Amino acid sequence: MDKIKKIGVLTSGGDSPGMNAAIRAVVRTCAYHEVECAGIYRGFEGMIEGDFVNLNARSVKGIINKGGTFLKSARSKEFMTKQGRKKAFQSLKNANIDALVTIGGDGTFTGSMIFSNEFNFPVIGIPGTIDNDIFGTSHTLGYDTALNTIVDVIDKIRDTASSHNRLFFVEVMGRDVGHIALNVGVGAGAEEILIPEENLGLDRLLDSLIRSKESGKSSSIVVVAEGDKIGKNVFELKDYVEEHLPEYEVRVSVLGHMQRGGAPSCFDRVLASRMGVKAIESLLEGDSNFMVGLLNDKIQLTPLEKAIKGQSKINKELIRVSDIMTT
Ligand code: F6P
Repeated sequence: MDKIKKIGVLTSGGDSPGMNAAIRAVVRTCAYHEVECAGIYRGFEGMIEGDFVNLNARSVKGIINKGGTFLKSARSKEFMTKQGRKKAFQSLKNANIDALVTIGGDGTFTGSMIFSNEFNFPVIGIPGTIDNDIFGTSHTLGYDTALNTIVDVIDKIRDTASSHNRLFFVEVMGRDVGHIALNVGVGAGAEEILIPEENLGLDRLLDSLIRSKESGKSSSIVVVAEGDKIGKNVFELKDYVEEHLPEYEVRVSVLGHMQRGGAPSCFDRVLASRMGVKAIESLLEGDSNFMVGLLNDKIQLTPLEKAIKGQSKINKELIRVSDIMTT
C-alpha cells in the first residue's frame, strides 16, 4: 500500500458532545506525524460535494470544550447509492485524500465499511453517539456527557415533582436501547425505569406505583427510554396511569435534543483525545475497516462489521441494583 499523505475527517449522523474534541485529536495527531489533514463538512454529503477544508494544529484551537461538531453533521441519502459513493470517491481523489476517519454511530460505520470495501479505501471509525449502542466499546463519545446532563435535569424535575406530590414520566433518548435510561434512572434515584431490553408490562408498573405510594412516597420519577415498548408512547402511559390510579397527578417531560448538547465532560474529552490518536496511528500502520473503542480501559480496534452487527448488551447487574434501590 502507498504511504498515506493526507487524511480526511468527518462527523456524521446525530452529533454528540466530544466530537469536536475528537476532530482536534485527529488533526493534531496528523500534524504530529507530518501528515496533511482535511476536514469534510456535513458528513458524507460534503464528501460527495467535495466540501473540504485544510486543517492544521492551530485550526482546532479552542474547541475541546465545545458541544456539537464544527464540521457539521448530516444523514446522507445519496451516499446510500453506488452513484453517490462513486462521486464521493472522486472528490477525495481530486483533493488527494487517501484515508478517512469517520466519527459517528452505526449508520456512519455501515456507510464507511461499504465505501472502504468498494474502493479499497482505508477507513477507521470513532464511535460518537450519546446512545452507547455500539459493540466494541464500553463508552461511545458523548454518552457520559449526556448522562450527566440528564441526571442534572431530572434532579430539577424532582424538585418540582416533590413540591406538588406529582408523578413524572421523563422520556430520555437512546433510540432502540436503554443504556441512557438505566444509568440516569439509577443515578437520579428514579422509582421505575422502563427500557426496551426488559418489558415490565403495564401491570407491574401499576403495582410498583401502588407499592411506592403505600411505602410513604409522595412523588415519583419514572424514567422511560424512548425505545421502550410498554406503551405506545409516554403520553399514553400517563393516560393509562391516570385512569387506573386516579390518586396520582401525572406530568410528562420529554427531554428531547437538549440531551445531545453542552460542553463535553472531562471523561468524553479524554476519551476523544485517546481515540483520535489511535485512529490516525492505526491508519498510518496500515489498519483499515476498524473502529477504535474503549475496552478494559485500553483503546482497542474492533472490525467495523463486528461493531455494527454485535450487540451492546444492557448491564444486568445494574438492573438488579435498580430493583433493590427502588424497594
Ligand atoms: O442517535 C442519537 C439520537 O439522539 C437518538 O437518541 C435519537 O433517537 C435520534 O438521535 C434522534 O435523531 P434526530 O436528531 O434525527 O431527530
